[in-house]
Amino acid sequence: MSPMQSTDWGQSLWASLPIPAFLLNPDDTIADITPSAELFLNMSARSLRGHPVFDKLSIDAPLEDAFAKVRRDQSRLFINNVDVGGGNKPPVQCNVQVGAISDRPDMVLLLLEPRQIADRMDRAQSVKSAAKSAIGMAEMLAHEIKNPLAGITGAAQLLSMNLSGDDQEMTDLIVSETRRIVKLLEQVEQFGNLRPPQRRAVNIHDLLDRARKSALVGFAAHMRIIEEYDPSLPSTWVDGDQLLQVFLNLLKNAAEAGSEGGTIRIRTFYELSLRVRRPDGSGRALPLQVEIIDDGPGLPSEIASDIFDPFVSGRENGTGLGLALVSKIISEHDGWIGVESVPGRTVFRISLPVAPKTEETD
Ligand SMILES: Nc1ncnc2c1ncn2[C@@H]1O[C@H](COP(=O)(O)OP(=O)(O)O)[C@@H](O)[C@H]1O
Ligand SMILES: [Mg+2]
Repeated sequence: MSPMQSTDWGQSLWASLPIPAFLLNPDDTIADITPSAELFLNMSARSLRGHPVFDKLSIDAPLEDAFAKVRRDQSRLFINNVDVGGGNKPPVQCNVQVGAISDRPDMVLLLLEPRQIADRMDRAQSVKSAAKSAIGMAEMLAHEIKNPLAGITGAAQLLSMNLSGDDQEMTDLIVSETRRIVKLLEQVEQFGNLRPPQRRAVNIHDLLDRARKSALVGFAAHMRIIEEYDPSLPSTWVDGDQLLQVFLNLLKNAAEAGSEGGTIRIRTFYELSLRVRRPDGSGRALPLQVEIIDDGPGLPSEIASDIFDPFVSGRENGTGLGLALVSKIISEHDGWIGVESVPGRTVFRISLPVAPKTEETD
């Protein structure tokens, strides 16, 4: 019987806490866990009550000390970026809080805040506002600059006809560099002109196959691309053209990060735990997961927290617009994107909704 059942409101408050929380007995056995914690661990409260918390949760932090300190001082402790796993679930980075409970001085409350979700929420907000102001201006400029650039390219090409050798190299340089600027401007325009998604029921594996094939004959010709698909995935509810662009941008980055003979893995799977809350309060499940994983050197640490912002690039010839566009498209679909990166393994994960039951796949 849970100690929280002593008051009715206490029990319902506990049950509706939207974060994984654990109530621990004086001997560090589990007294109760919230339904969010059941979801997080994929284990039921019944199977956990009475068991030592350290048998059921693997937490990469000195929690025994933390519990002792909290019980002694009746205080609260925060530990950030802790790997928390449980059952056969792989560890997830969390911010952890340990707190005392006023009328039960020997018990301890353990709260987990999965980082990925916290980070993604911040990201969606900041991208929207930063992108809007930077892009409005850039889009206007892009449009204005493209015409004179066409003139410059044309003039350089005319000039080059009467030149030879070294001189022609210079006009070639003018032509290739102006082309590069035009490409950048087109990306800026594409970003600004993004239309609202026209959603249909789409087989995500068809999109991924198209992206993979065009990657392999182009920018990813030097890489190996491995598919790890869950063939039983239901259709997703997206704008196919826009999602194709998302996958191409992610594959392109992975290919640019990878060395000759590197490997990109495309993984799809079903995972129910993620929901997104809309501003109007309605919730939506995002159970379809797509991961693009590369074995390159990982995100440059100086820009790792800003890669989804426009014009942030770690590459000499980069525009910094690839991931900004990805992030914008995903956010217009009410989806999530997150990234985890260490040298040798970078994972971009996209979470998407399932198509309504009444919709047929094309
Ligand atoms: N898979 C990856 N591995 C390592 N770094 C990456 C990866 N994907 C993105 N990045 C980093 O994020 C930056 C921003 O990416 P992006 O927005 O696509 O712009 P761009 O590719 O034009 O530089 C890249 O320049 C790179 O430094
Ligand atoms: Mg890119």
